Amino acid sequence: MNSIGVAIVGCGGITLQNHLPGLALCPDARVVALCDQDPATLERARQQTGVDVGSTHFEDIVKRDDVQAIIIATPNCTHAPIAHAAIAAGKHVLCEKPLAMDATEAARMADAAEKAGVRHMTAFTYRFVPAMRYLAHLVRQGVLGDIHHYRCCRLQDWGDRDLGWRQMRDLAGTGELGDMLSHRIDFAHLLVGPFRRLVANLKRVHDSRGGKPSELDDWVAILADFRNGATGVLESSKLASGRNESWRSLDYVEINGTRASAVFFTGKWNELQMGRLGGEGLEIVAVPKEFHVWPGSPRDPADGDPLVTFRYDQAFEFIDAIRNQRPCRPDFHDAVRVQTVMDATVRSASEGRWVELDLP
Ligand SMILES: NC(=O)c1ccc[n+]([C@@H]2O[C@H](COP(=O)([O-])OP(=O)(O)OC[C@H]3O[C@@H](n4cnc5c(N)ncnc54)[C@H](O)[C@@H]3O)[C@@H](O)[C@H]2O)c1
Repeated sequence: MNSIGVAIVGCGGITLQNHLPGLALCPDARVVALCDQDPATLERARQQTGVDVGSTHFEDIVKRDDVQAIIIATPNCTHAPIAHAAIAAGKHVLCEKPLAMDATEAARMADAAEKAGVRHMTAFTYRFVPAMRYLAHLVRQGVLGDIHHYRCCRLQDWGDRDLGWRQMRDLAGTGELGDMLSHRIDFAHLLVGPFRRLVANLKRVHDSRGGKPSELDDWVAILADFRNGATGVLESSKLASGRNESWRSLDYVEINGTRASAVFFTGKWNELQMGRLGGEGLEIVAVPKEFHVWPGSPRDPADGDPLVTFRYDQAFEFIDAIRNQRPCRPDFHDAVRVQTVMDATVRSASEGRWVELDLP
């Protein structure tokens, strides 16, 4: 079996944390080229991986004959031009979230990928948490009954530290909304279905971070109605002092249905809390072993910190979809739906009103 040549564009934080270790577990994939516009970051990645081929220009990398697939892990404003160049060269694309700067740009990327017949995937990484996969399974099986309420809360302590490109509107688009809440909007689509309307607010507390202007939201909240009649409350903040960061901080989802409720915490990767209608309260439910890795993934869940290693299944899903010529999960269409909700959130917050949505 020929291995699939992968190029990575953007060799910063998420490439080192998720993409390279994930690809290392894929027997079918080989990283053949690296790109970063910063020569020092590129050199560090080359030394770390032993991959000789590198460039500071993505145009050099996407056209290479030994590259079949591209992973895009650069600031948000660069996703669309890099993805279009890769798609035009006939390459499969895994692009980080948020896919684009707005829904129109995201939809163009999805159209281009469909027309070119390439595999397309976006990195809603928390879909790969075993407990989230089990929760989605229980919802699909009807164990919770009809869903009344969706609730999510993402609270981290980032204080007033420098966020680099993440605090600049023309590079990031939105702040906490795209950075953190986009994943939880995706959970809502996975667990409940399409949004029908929403009203939202965005708040920037720190106008300056690291001595430079900070232009984007530190906090976001959405009140939503879903098309199936359920309601939703979504909140995400960088300013929950003392809550810590990343997987050591709060990432909570609760679903209330006519038969049962279920609660998911990212930090509890292999358990849910569940309670039945009229029952005594919530109890811990273990996630069955068959959900501990993504279907087909060679990853051993006993290897490494499971709060880090579930992310590696994302690379497996991309490579397996290319190998088997099937759609990736989640794909650019999922990203367009999320970006449509993000656009509506920004509009609602600036106009101070409910915004209707017409999602596929
Ligand atoms: N899925 C997740 O859980 C998750 C987590 C973190 C970040 N992300 C996303 O990943 C992307 C990157 O985030 P990060 O934290 O790794 O950022 P980062 O700043 O650590 O790394 C980005 C890298 O891209 C390089 N770069 C910038 N413009 C470029 C260009 N035109 N061509 C080539 N390289 C370029 C930079 O030099 C930098 O090394 C963002 O879209 C972010 O939202 C997703």
